[in-house]
Amino acid sequence: MGRKKLAAGNWKMNGVKASLGEIEALVSAFTAPPNCDVLICPPATLVSAMVAVSRGISIGGQDCHANASGAHTGDISAEQLADAGASAVIVGHSERRADHGESDAEVAAKAEAAWRAGLTAVICVGETEAERDAGEALSIVGGQMAGSIPAGATGANTVLAYEPVWAIGTGKVPTLEDIAEMHDYMRAELAKSHPAEAQNIRFLYGGSVKPTNAAEIFAVSNVDGALVGGASLKAADFGGIIKAASEA
Ligand code: PGA
Repeated sequence: MGRKKLAAGNWKMNGVKASLGEIEALVSAFTAPPNCDVLICPPATLVSAMVAVSRGISIGGQDCHANASGAHTGDISAEQLADAGASAVIVGHSERRADHGESDAEVAAKAEAAWRAGLTAVICVGETEAERDAGEALSIVGGQMAGSIPAGATGANTVLAYEPVWAIGTGKVPTLEDIAEMHDYMRAELAKSHPAEAQNIRFLYGGSVKPTNAAEIFAVSNVDGALVGGASLKAADFGGIIKAASEA
């Protein structure tokens, strides 16, 4: 039983109501449902509006608070995202870890909050350029996995995204050999921590994925899809990545 490919888009702090036209263009470009899962994570302001036009595409949030409700001005709970129609939420993106000082323990708590609300947690890990240059990429990611993936992770409730920080939004991509080394390592680590589910949890590669490099990345060992930032904003680009995932 293979893992179905997943093309996931992360719009970050981009998009207003007028941007929903990109989703309408994307869904109308596919005459038949693609042979992969598709998830788009718009800003929270657009979740419910995007759900209304997303026909077959899953919609997710980009972050959630660990609590279900309470006095946390500006935060959003997993339950609120679910209420808006989301089915997934990204947790621990490197921009959240850097901009908001999120620790592995907080990321793990957010993943558990996602599950509590019935959402799939897309848990992100990845090393900085300095860490890779120092030969620490595997150990950094291994440490993030140990701290950020709760014991209850299954193929149904969790997706793991490997996003080297230095490849995000830079146009720089690791070699295919480096992606394979990391994803194989991640599978081996998960087999130790989560032996029953290690083969079921999908691994996304993220960082400067484009329609032009998606197919070769999807062919790499233990790559089950992509988490796409910039190239998910335009229907033509994301459509090309979905097509590559469908054909992989
Ligand atoms: P990028 O972002 O595709 O723009 O590099 C990826 C991400 O941060 O998820």
